[in-house]
Amino acid sequence: MKRPIIAGNWKMNNTNAGTKALLTELAPLVKDAKCEVVVCVPFTDIDTARKAIRGTKIKLGAQNVHWAPKGAFTGEISAEMLKELKVEYVIIGHSERRQYFGETDASVNARLKAAVGAGLKAIVCVGETLEEREAGKTNEVVTRQINGAFEGLEKIALKSIVVAYEPVWAIGTGKTATAEDANDTIAVIRKAIRKLYGRTAAGAMRIQYGGSMNPKNASELMAMPEIDGGLIGGASLKAEDFAKVVNY
Ligand code: 13P
Repeated sequence: MKRPIIAGNWKMNNTNAGTKALLTELAPLVKDAKCEVVVCVPFTDIDTARKAIRGTKIKLGAQNVHWAPKGAFTGEISAEMLKELKVEYVIIGHSERRQYFGETDASVNARLKAAVGAGLKAIVCVGETLEEREAGKTNEVVTRQINGAFEGLEKIALKSIVVAYEPVWAIGTGKTATAEDANDTIAVIRKAIRKLYGRTAAGAMRIQYGGSMNPKNASELMAMPEIDGGLIGGASLKAEDFAKVVNY
């Protein structure tokens, strides 16, 4: 059995003071969680978060990582820098990075290789825009994103990778994909992984749903056979809500 993974993506929210308060409130609420629990915090909150989650069920994640080990890349953070701060997970290729910061399938691939090469675990995001969905291109888009992200990656690396399916139109909008639609598209994603790495590896891959997932819809989404977890934005900023999703 795969262990489900529920991760909070805080995006650009919470100062150090807010981080400490939120995680202190969250820790006792998720102490009996059956799934893996991760919080992906802003770079500047990592050290505070690390201290606040010591001795708890909560694991530490970041929201991006650069592809180069070091060098002249103003404003970027390397995998080694994250490792030093005991970061375990890192989100790669979130749609907001693709949309606002020019992230492409090729840069996602380069960042993914750097992350797993340095011993980080990655949460690789894919998902179609509303325009792509309405044009009937969802399956084509997620398949292209998977092929791009995994280009040249050895099968062994899959053990350190989680995929998140986040339809862009469902992020922060209150619109959730129906559980059936999310399940169907995740099946397409798994098929793309199967074509690259075979049935066993694809079956073992944990694939999350993300996009307006909240305490009300979490259990329905998590009951779907293809859905192995959630990547939670807005609802991860309130301890009580995030705990309810974790304890779906
Ligand atoms: P919301 O849960 O706020 O829709 O955000 C989803 C998301 O982008 C998580 O990475």
